Amino acid sequence: MNITLRPERTEDRQSIWNVNHAAFGNDAEANLVDALRKGGFATVSVVAEIDGEIVGHILFSPVSILTSDQTIAAVSLAPMAVQPRYQRQGIGSKLVQSGLQSCRDQGCQIAVVLGHPKFYSRFGFSSDLARPLESPFGGGEAWMAIELVSGALSGVTGSVQYSPPFTA
Ligand SMILES: CC(C)(COP(=O)(O)OP(=O)(O)OC[C@H]1O[C@@H](n2cnc3c(N)ncnc32)[C@H](O)[C@@H]1OP(=O)(O)O)[C@@H](O)C(=O)NCCC(=O)NCCS
Repeated sequence: MNITLRPERTEDRQSIWNVNHAAFGNDAEANLVDALRKGGFATVSVVAEIDGEIVGHILFSPVSILTSDQTIAAVSLAPMAVQPRYQRQGIGSKLVQSGLQSCRDQGCQIAVVLGHPKFYSRFGFSSDLARPLESPFGGGEAWMAIELVSGALSGVTGSVQYSPPFTA
């Protein structure tokens, strides 16, 4: 399987909507991607392509960590999706790795995610790291964080604020 990972292009938008719609089985996340892009919140948007077909997508958008005395910039991984017939073949993992690298390349220091602990922990996301961070959506063990720069979360306690499309 020859997979290409690359940043999204304008002409990919419908395919990205279709992938999210197929993977989640409804249009909520597909529309969320459109709203994030439209609002200028698509910090990193990567697609996985096989023979010209978009089979996966991952998005990272800005969040703020509000501590008692400062606001710290971070990114949220959400949503991500792989076409059902291509799942469990490693494409999602490649998207996470590529997306995190793009975030690092852009100077992002911290990422958070609300998702399957077994999956995201493979890439260094940790619920322990996220414990001092309050999620507006709850999450328990599914609420995880990763330091893209070593030590970026040292001593950081606060609440995480998402962009408006997440709370609309
Ligand atoms: C989550 C998702 C993007 C993973 O993509 P993928 O290409 O299948 O990922 P990989 O092949 O790299 O890894 C597969 C792993 O994902 C994990 N996984 C996928 N879906 C899972 C689920 N519903 N519950 C728990 N783990 C899950 C499993 O650990 C699986 O590992 P295994 O095959 O060893 O059991 C894909 O399953 C998907 O699109 N799901 C529907 C949408 C969704 O839930 N998105 C994530 C929330 S934003």
